[in-house]
Amino acid sequence: MYQPRDQFQPDQKSGIELGGTTLSVDRVLDILRRQWPLITAILAGTLALVMIYLLAARPMYTANARILMDTRQTQVLDKDSGVNNALIDTGFVDSQVEILNSDDLILSIVRRLRLTEDPEFNGSDPGIIALILGKVISLFGSDGPPSKERIERGAVEALQKNLRVERVLTTYVLSLSFRSRNPDRAAQIANEISDAYIVGALEAKYQSTKRAGEWLQQRSAELREQATASDRAVQTFKAQNNIVGTSRGLMTEQQLSDVNTQLIQARAATAEAKARLDRIEAISDKDLAQPTVTDALNNTVITRLRAQYLDLAAQYADWSSRYGKTHQASVNLANRMEESRKAIADEVRRIADSYRSEYAIAKSRESSLEENMKALVAQAGSTGQAQVKLRDLESAADTYRNLYNNFLEKLQQATQNQSFPISEARIISTAVKPDKKSSPRTLLAIAGGLVGGLCLGFGAAFSRELLSDVLRSPSDVEGELGVKCLGVLPDIRPATAVAQKARALLPTDNSSAKQNGASLSHYVVDHPFSRFAETLRNIKLSIDVARLTRDVKVIGIVSSLPKEGKTTVAANFGHLTALTGHRTLLIDGDLHTRSLTRDLAPNAKTGLLEALKEPKSLGYHIQRSKETGLDLLPSFVASRMVNSADVMASKAMADLLHIVRENYEYIIIDLAPVMPVTDAKAIGHLVDAMIYVIEWGRTTRSALQESVSGSEVIQKKLLGAVLNRANPKMLKRIEAYKGSHYNSYYIEGA
Ligand SMILES: Nc1ncnc2c1ncn2[C@@H]1O[C@H](COP(=O)(O)OP(=O)(O)OP(=O)(O)O)[C@@H](O)[C@H]1O
Ligand SMILES: [Mg+2]
Repeated sequence: MYQPRDQFQPDQKSGIELGGTTLSVDRVLDILRRQWPLITAILAGTLALVMIYLLAARPMYTANARILMDTRQTQVLDKDSGVNNALIDTGFVDSQVEILNSDDLILSIVRRLRLTEDPEFNGSDPGIIALILGKVISLFGSDGPPSKERIERGAVEALQKNLRVERVLTTYVLSLSFRSRNPDRAAQIANEISDAYIVGALEAKYQSTKRAGEWLQQRSAELREQATASDRAVQTFKAQNNIVGTSRGLMTEQQLSDVNTQLIQARAATAEAKARLDRIEAISDKDLAQPTVTDALNNTVITRLRAQYLDLAAQYADWSSRYGKTHQASVNLANRMEESRKAIADEVRRIADSYRSEYAIAKSRESSLEENMKALVAQAGSTGQAQVKLRDLESAADTYRNLYNNFLEKLQQATQNQSFPISEARIISTAVKPDKKSSPRTLLAIAGGLVGGLCLGFGAAFSRELLSDVLRSPSDVEGELGVKCLGVLPDIRPATAVAQKARALLPTDNSSAKQNGASLSHYVVDHPFSRFAETLRNIKLSIDVARLTRDVKVIGIVSSLPKEGKTTVAANFGHLTALTGHRTLLIDGDLHTRSLTRDLAPNAKTGLLEALKEPKSLGYHIQRSKETGLDLLPSFVASRMVNSADVMASKAMADLLHIVRENYEYIIIDLAPVMPVTDAKAIGHLVDAMIYVIEWGRTTRSALQESVSGSEVIQKKLLGAVLNRANPKMLKRIEAYKGSHYNSYYIEGA
């Protein structure tokens, strides 16, 4: 038993669920097979646009200069700057990018290079696209010839558009690129901008140091005055309070300590003189000859006198013992001894006198010093108060002086910086004339066009497929209806359309033109080996298989909407079964359009309605095809009926069908579409099976759902569905996986 695999087995391959539809590899391939012309068209369109762009776009050249933000240079002068200052924060570098892009800087370049006279920047030579855009915009508002400012503004904007300044990764290097139609111009402008930036930076620095210098100068003058005034205040106060400063402190303090030292010395001297005097006064006459006393005096005169006395005393002792004390010599000696003693006593007295006067002097000196001391102490007490105030004044004066010195130093530095300004930035590579155009990049544009075109094409193809609500493959039908798709009927119009045209050229052959109008209902007869005929045979086979288990004789051909091909399918199916020798009756059950009757029996004056009234006269109303032996029960209605559904569901219809069941093997009823009228649903319980015709690529899923799920009887009787009017070219593409010889079994033109 021949049953094409693809038509009967639902697609159970796993896939990705996408918007309610499963996207499997097979489905993707299917979509690509169906939609490749669209993809190719979009790709070709994109590439054509790219080519137009490449031809129309003017070549542009980009020159690149690089600027380094270098802190070390500024540190040469800036002694105060710590280590942290060496690091420029990223915000600073980003600000420099903005400065390079700033209107003022660019405007200075525009003026210096007179770019308002350059057609590239003054807008007098725009590109093709800009020209068209400009024309369109000018339609909406004409505002006279542009002013000088506007031209300048335009030039600034044109420059800014072509200028790109960016930080190189995380370094302190700024890369400055400028694009122009002229390579020399590109390099020149890039260099001018970087130069202007450096000069601008120096100028800004100069201005700021100048301002700082001026301020410092003013402030230091004020400070100098303040310092001088406070110094003067200190001096005046000292004079007023009689405070004299020496290197070792104030005069009063100095004097006090000096007098104190002297007083101590004087007291010691007095005590020493007193001691000496006391000792000499303590010496009695008897003691004069005593060596201990005289030795203590340590006087040369006394020592000599004593030595003399001792000699006399020794001689006296000798002589008195030898000659007796009374001896004149001894008496003489005794007298001399007395004299000597007197001399010693005189001397001692004289020394005592000198000691006394020494003592008196020391005492008077001591008392004078004490007086002095007292006076000084009194004076010091009064200067103590003034001292506190003085210290205040002095510290104020010190502060002012220090501040002044500090400012003076800063001022010096500022003046230095001003005369030798250094900027943080320096150019590390100047722009050179580019030898290659930077845009348009032919290869890149083509590659981009290819990729973009493919993406667009695939996107369009997939969205067209996935968003479309129509059915195109047996699996679509099976998924939607849950019944077998019995086959895909190709569109048979094109082949005949050509023939029709050819025949129409023959003016006299009216009959052939007429015949052509009905030719589609005879298609299987004319093309028995076509795919169309083979698919109908497959439908017949499915019915025959169903007949093995139940009685399937009355078959309704139905569709959701009009013009899906019910009549064509019914007529051809009828011819096909009749040709195979089966007794077949074709009933025109569409009482609204009666297209089957108009097609196959245009002259019929009676038909179904008459037969319903009188079933026995059935044979009288039936017309037989000479060609195939197919019996046709046409319909004839004088005016359109309102109760056609009642007629369809009537007892008479049941009786009629009962009669024809006896005489025919296949009874095919061409029905009206389900959605607009209810006829098909009404006759549903009288038919054995229904075959649903779905127009390929036209009938929507929603229409199908609405018509089938809305009718239980149709669901119950549905034997299968058939896709009609499939585009043969598309069909070939879809079925390319079946191999190139798949269609060789069909003979379409036969
Ligand atoms: N497979 C096909 N290839 C080419 N043309 C077809 C095919 N099937 C139907 N047609 C054409 O489509 C038109 C509508 O077909 P047909 O009358 O069979 O549809 P219908 O569903 O019976 O319409 P209605 O609902 O009006 O009865 C006709 O002109 C017919 O020739
Ligand atoms: Mg019809």
